[in-house]
Amino acid sequence: MKALILVGGYGTRLRPLTLSKPKPLVEFCNKPMVMHQIEALVQVGVKHIILAVSYRAEMLEKEMKQQQDRLGITITISQEKEPLGTAGPLALARDHLTVDDEPFFVLNSDVLCDFPFKQMAEFHKNHGKEGTIVVTKVEEPSKYGVVVYDLKTGRIDKFVEKPQVYVSNKINAGLYIFSPKILDRIELRPTSIEKEIFPKMAQDDNLFAFDLSGFWMDVGQPKDFLTGMVMYLQYLREKHPELLHEGSGSIGNVLVDPSAKIGENCRIGPNVVIGPNAVIQDGVCLSRCTIMQESVIRSHSWIHSAIIGWKSVVGQWVRMEGVSVLGEDVIVKDELYINGGRILPHKSISNSSPEPQIIM
Ligand code: GDD
Ligand code: MG
Repeated sequence: MKALILVGGYGTRLRPLTLSKPKPLVEFCNKPMVMHQIEALVQVGVKHIILAVSYRAEMLEKEMKQQQDRLGITITISQEKEPLGTAGPLALARDHLTVDDEPFFVLNSDVLCDFPFKQMAEFHKNHGKEGTIVVTKVEEPSKYGVVVYDLKTGRIDKFVEKPQVYVSNKINAGLYIFSPKILDRIELRPTSIEKEIFPKMAQDDNLFAFDLSGFWMDVGQPKDFLTGMVMYLQYLREKHPELLHEGSGSIGNVLVDPSAKIGENCRIGPNVVIGPNAVIQDGVCLSRCTIMQESVIRSHSWIHSAIIGWKSVVGQWVRMEGVSVLGEDVIVKDELYINGGRILPHKSISNSSPEPQIIM
């Protein structure tokens, strides 16, 4: 089987992290975002994965070469000359997608869940029409594609991208399986699959909804990244508790890379992820946060609701909160207070920042 992942643009909503790495390579719970998807695809027998990118992607290409050897699959980078939106990339990859008559998966690159690929393929085969999209329930449907469908058969009546007025609370989860026939609807030009293709497929009774059970999150922005992290850690608690960290000072769901070092008298958790070779010194309190690879949190600091980018150093007795995000290689001096700060890479901070702001 084949899959195309819409990797897209620069990931501006996840800055400052995406100033150092393309979004798919930013680690979510200690694994590059796109690797969560790729590994789940490989598990159901996908052998060829096409990454549709709209920017020059040297770093991605290099990383994916290594991954394809490790996983024993083919990963192709399909590079657009201009951004082709969410449907155009399928037309660009037409030759790859039509080597046989089998259906193929298409994924948004920033969504995470317990991927139901096997069940999607079965459901798709059973209804026999052109497309299946995964749907999930959310509280704030207006920032997503909203779906109205027959609960018994899954047949979609209506697809409305980012509706202004309330339509339904069931939304497009950004995971699809299509039969090659869908390609007859898509031209090689910038096209939104959500605005231009799905509504027509729904009109023709060719689009079906597959209901997702369990957690789902679009982790493409910091606040949602942290919410998704909490959900994913709870999923690990239920499905793979052996992967979670236990020990004195550890509270609730905590994921720690084995190479990380944690000092004495710390309080870690609930909902903390600590990356490879990170150092947490004595007396540190961490909750609802991700500390990325090789970062150092000096003694007695207190961090809640933050993402600390790679190789950053947070000084002693620092207090940080309010969805603060540190880019790569940031230094926060001792005893500062940071609330909702977005701090650009390679910056050294010597003053407190009590109100949310971008620090360049
Ligand atoms: N290759 C390529 N080229 N990919 C693109 C382009 C492009 O020009 N534009 C966007 N993408 C990719 C993005 O990287 C992302 O993986 C996916 O297409 C969707 O784009 P987003 O910008 O993340 O869209 P969204 O989050 O506002 O909405 C989409 O996702 C929701 C679920 O999270 C829509 O599909 C909604 O209907 C859906 O509910
Ligand atoms: Mg998104």
